[in-house]
Amino acid sequence: MRTNSEFGLRMTCIAIVLTVSWLGGCHGAGSSQPSQTSGRTNGTTPAQSDAELEARIKHLESLSPGQGSLMSGVAYHFGSLWFAIDHENWPLADFYLHECRESMEQAVEAMPVRKLSTGEELNIRGIAEALDNTQFAAIESAIAGKEKDRAVAAYRDTIIVCHSCHRAAEKPFLRVQIPDRPPSPSIDFKPMQLE
Ligand code: HEC
Repeated sequence: MRTNSEFGLRMTCIAIVLTVSWLGGCHGAGSSQPSQTSGRTNGTTPAQSDAELEARIKHLESLSPGQGSLMSGVAYHFGSLWFAIDHENWPLADFYLHECRESMEQAVEAMPVRKLSTGEELNIRGIAEALDNTQFAAIESAIAGKEKDRAVAAYRDTIIVCHSCHRAAEKPFLRVQIPDRPPSPSIDFKPMQLE
């Protein structure tokens, strides 16, 4: 099993390297604000409605949570997952893994391609997909088999990938660790007793 997870880690790392691509010549989207004055005429010209539409989209985008706050959701579910695994509470672990995958997807979709300071583009969707298919899949199968050791090993592998993506996204200071207490004090992690 060890070699399998090492192989998975290596594949995910290769995916990270492959998803860093050179920025091509013309990428207009998101790089410049639409000018307030361009296309402004008295009538409802197509240029004006385009500009208005763009402004409205920008406004709506500003209201939706950014990648950072969505990532906090990932951390919340991933942290809770640790305690569910530790308590061998398998239905709860299954729930938190599912939530974690879902919030990861939402976080990535908030900005699937990130512009780096070097001018390169980082396709984090590719990294997230590799993580989902490899480390998260390994946690899933360990939970299904109620194998704590294997779940813990896959959890630790996941932490390495979390940090790899943060490093790739030029946020190496976002080091993920095993939490020392559950993110929510309201959840009882002990397995349910059969009544
Ligand atoms: C596919 C890339 C990627 C993966 C995988 C990833 N992250 Fe992130 N994460 C990011 C990016 C990008 C940011 C910074 C977002 C921003 O610009 O604010 C971030 C930010 C964070 C933050 C800081 C949020 C805040 O604003 O306080 C936390 C916590 C976090 N990630 C946890 C995790 C955990 C836990 C994992 C693994 C289960 C993980 N991340 C995996 C890309 C990733």
